[in-house]
Amino acid sequence: MPIYLDNAATSHPKPEAVVRETVRALTEYNANPGRSGHAAALAAARRVLRTRESLAALMGAQDALRIAFCFNCTDALNLAIKGSLRLGDHVVATALEHNSVLRPLGTLAQRGRISLTLVAPGPEGFVDAKDIRAAMTPRTALIICTHASNVTGAIQPAAAIGQMARETGVRYLVDGAQALGALPVDVKALGCNLYAFPGHKSLLGPQGTGGLYIAPDTALNTLREGGTGSSSDSLLQPEELPERYEAGTVNLPGLAGLGAGCEYVGAKLSLIMMHERELSQALYEGLSAMPGVALYSPAREADRAGIVCFNVGDLSSSQAADALSRQGIAVRGGLHCAPMAHRFLGTLRRGAVRASVGWANTFEEIEALLRAVRDLL
Ligand code: ALA
Repeated sequence: MPIYLDNAATSHPKPEAVVRETVRALTEYNANPGRSGHAAALAAARRVLRTRESLAALMGAQDALRIAFCFNCTDALNLAIKGSLRLGDHVVATALEHNSVLRPLGTLAQRGRISLTLVAPGPEGFVDAKDIRAAMTPRTALIICTHASNVTGAIQPAAAIGQMARETGVRYLVDGAQALGALPVDVKALGCNLYAFPGHKSLLGPQGTGGLYIAPDTALNTLREGGTGSSSDSLLQPEELPERYEAGTVNLPGLAGLGAGCEYVGAKLSLIMMHERELSQALYEGLSAMPGVALYSPAREADRAGIVCFNVGDLSSSQAADALSRQGIAVRGGLHCAPMAHRFLGTLRRGAVRASVGWANTFEEIEALLRAVRDLL
């Protein structure tokens, strides 16, 4: 593997315990959780429950059963958005959202089912709860904000928006794609009804995992119906959580690995956070000392979720990312599936290079990236 600085897309490497538990699920208790009652199926069900409980502990959720597993964060966001909205609803989201929010909303708006307002961030890259409030109408049924931008890493004032959402009684969805496992998260303090997350980023689990926290006062329409192993005499989806939103067999090896990832991160969150902040600060400072590098991430390390976004000289972001890749350094160029964020940054045409650090990166690797950027200049 190259020097891996693309952790915002998928974290690498995974802790040994994640690999071991994923393999154990496939070899030692490879059965269908929540269906049959034999020993292997019960062991599988216990593992899935433990993963749910570890996630609940990481996000301050009192009831682990209110976390529904999904295929990934995009799937969780689709459930949250399409399961919430009705004909004629208005949605306020931010211009920093990923296409996994913008496209479901764009599709519903194009079909004439909802109307949509996107709120721009201020010059520092943070949205303001007051601007979101000002964009609301009597028909606003949902507010959506990313917890941290996947382009710049800027951590958004998610709790202030949550407080405003609670005061106005409007449902609030937070996209935790770049936050859960990277920052302390407390769904109660955030005041959110819904919190979507991937398993394969800062939670260090395998791809094809993720989920949605659904607060006790929040009900969603289902997008999928099917077998749950419960209330099987009914032709309707059960009301109970998590079965209501988990039709079909879950990704047992993925969720087993995710559980090990959550346990690893849960035991060391503040250490991992401190390490990632120091790495990203070293990178930010190194890049900001180079004339010819344009930086788009917040300057304060406490405002960034492990991401430093930049461009090099006159190169397009793809040219720079490809050149770095040829030198054995993995970063991401392009638009990072968040076109409106680039419109705000003025980088819609050339995109930007994104370096995203993880628990296993070293200062030597940051130095290697800085040397490679200097060479490119
Ligand atoms: N959403 C992921 C990213 O930002 C894949 O790169």
